[in-house]
Amino acid sequence: MATRFGRLLEIHRELDEVFLLHAECLLQGEHGLGLAVLKGYRELLLLHMEHEERQLLPLYVTVGVAPRFPVVLYGGQHEKLRGMLDALVVRVAALEGRGRAVRRAVLGIFDQETTFKHLSEHHDAAERDGLFARLDLAVDAERTEALVSRCWDEWWARRGALQGPILEAQAL
Ligand SMILES: [Fe+2]
Ligand SMILES: [Fe+2]
Repeated sequence: MATRFGRLLEIHRELDEVFLLHAECLLQGEHGLGLAVLKGYRELLLLHMEHEERQLLPLYVTVGVAPRFPVVLYGGQHEKLRGMLDALVVRVAALEGRGRAVRRAVLGIFDQETTFKHLSEHHDAAERDGLFARLDLAVDAERTEALVSRCWDEWWARRGALQGPILEAQAL
C-alpha cells in the first residue's frame, strides 16, 4: 500500500511508549534513569514537531486547511506541550532520596503527567482527523512518499541514537 501521512501516527505511538518507560522508571525509584528517558522523549517529540512545523504545516496551508483544524490549533498545542514537558523535566530533575516525601513528589508528577497525556491525546486525534487526513487526500503519492520517508527516517535515526537509556528502562 502507498505511504500515507497517517503513517506518522505510528511515531506518536512510539513516543507514548517512551513516555510510559519514563514513568515506569519513576515507579521503580530509578529517578536518574527516568530523567534520562524523559529527556530522550523530549528530544524525540521536539524533532517530530519540527518536522510538522517546517514541512507538513506549510504544505497543509498550501493545499487548503480543514476548517475545523486551523494551523494555529497545531501551533498552539505544540507550544503548550513543549511548556508542560519542560516543567515536567524540572520536577523530575529535582527528585532526590528515597523516603515518603519523594514518593509523594512522584505522585504529584504523575498527576501533572496525566494532564500532559490528555493534551497529547487531543493533539494526536486532531492530527489524525485534520492535518494527516487532509494531506492524505490532497498530496500526490510521490510527494507523500518523499516527505513521510524523510520525516520517518530522521526520526528513527534519532530514536536509535537515544537507545541507551531506553534499553536500560526496558530491562527494568
Ligand atoms: Fe504529530
Ligand atoms: Fe504535532
